[in-house]
Amino acid sequence: MPRDYLRDYLSVDDLGPAELLHLLDVADALKADRTLQRDALAGMTVALLFEKASTRTRVSFEVGVGQLGGRPLTLSGADLQLGRGETIEDTGRVLSRYVDAIVLRTFEQERLEALAEAATVPVINSLSDFEHPCQALADLMTIRERLGTLSGKILTYVGDGNNVAHSLLLAGAKTGMTVRIAAPAGFEPIPQVVQRASEIAEETGGAIETVSDPQTAVKGAHVLYTDVWASMGQEEEADARALVFRPYQVNQALLDLADASAIVLHCLPAHRGMEITDEVIDGPRSAVWDQAEDRLHTQKALLLVLFDLA
Ligand code: CP
Ligand code: NVA
Repeated sequence: MPRDYLRDYLSVDDLGPAELLHLLDVADALKADRTLQRDALAGMTVALLFEKASTRTRVSFEVGVGQLGGRPLTLSGADLQLGRGETIEDTGRVLSRYVDAIVLRTFEQERLEALAEAATVPVINSLSDFEHPCQALADLMTIRERLGTLSGKILTYVGDGNNVAHSLLLAGAKTGMTVRIAAPAGFEPIPQVVQRASEIAEETGGAIETVSDPQTAVKGAHVLYTDVWASMGQEEEADARALVFRPYQVNQALLDLADASAIVLHCLPAHRGMEITDEVIDGPRSAVWDQAEDRLHTQKALLLVLFDLA
């Protein structure tokens, strides 16, 4: 594929507001009919490279590429020469000679940027320590499905200011939502992301708010979102974090303070009894299983948009 057509998706910020809404429209159509575009990626191979564990992302990309007529090739970092010290850049140069796109889940965002710089095919971030931009696409799709619109809605994220929070900040800002983050001191989203999301929100009519008290943050929220307190790679900090994050648990008492029709989202996997209670995740306001399904439709739409096929 000529370099002119090369589009990477390393951050939610790689898509403009109109493009994001178009992608969601494509995803809605793909959800309504899973056979749509079934030959779009015929003859193409998408490498799915995982340096961290995954259930949803790996399976939804494998299934989604297959539904579009392409061939998914799942690779674990440990099985490749990467595990023996070959650089990510050289790996990208070589994979580009065989495959049509590379999806990477890794630790540092810089590793994705280095791969994208060296590769001659599109590179997709399927989670780094900094962002989870594929997750945010599904989050938007589920919110729009449940609430009918994005612009003007209030999303409150309670918990760690992590990769998922960063992508939500940018995705909410791009679509004119108010994104409120309630995180304990020392675990707030990084200031550069808050700043960038605020700039975007000024253009779209959205708003970005950081609040430390979860009870205050949740008032009037249409969407209540949480994620694990210790992300992949932070397992050793889990016990210490559990103490700090305890007041940030999404439980029925917190949900009762939100808008009467608020929905609850979690990117999953959930640590039940920690950041979210069974009662809430299994309760009538939870949309987490639709949210997990929407990973499939939005990632298919993303591939079509990046290849200029939709
Ligand atoms: N939400 C998410 O990315 O799940 P996996 O880690 O299972 O892919
Ligand atoms: N913040 C979590 C998300 C998992 C999908 C992590 O990085 O482990």
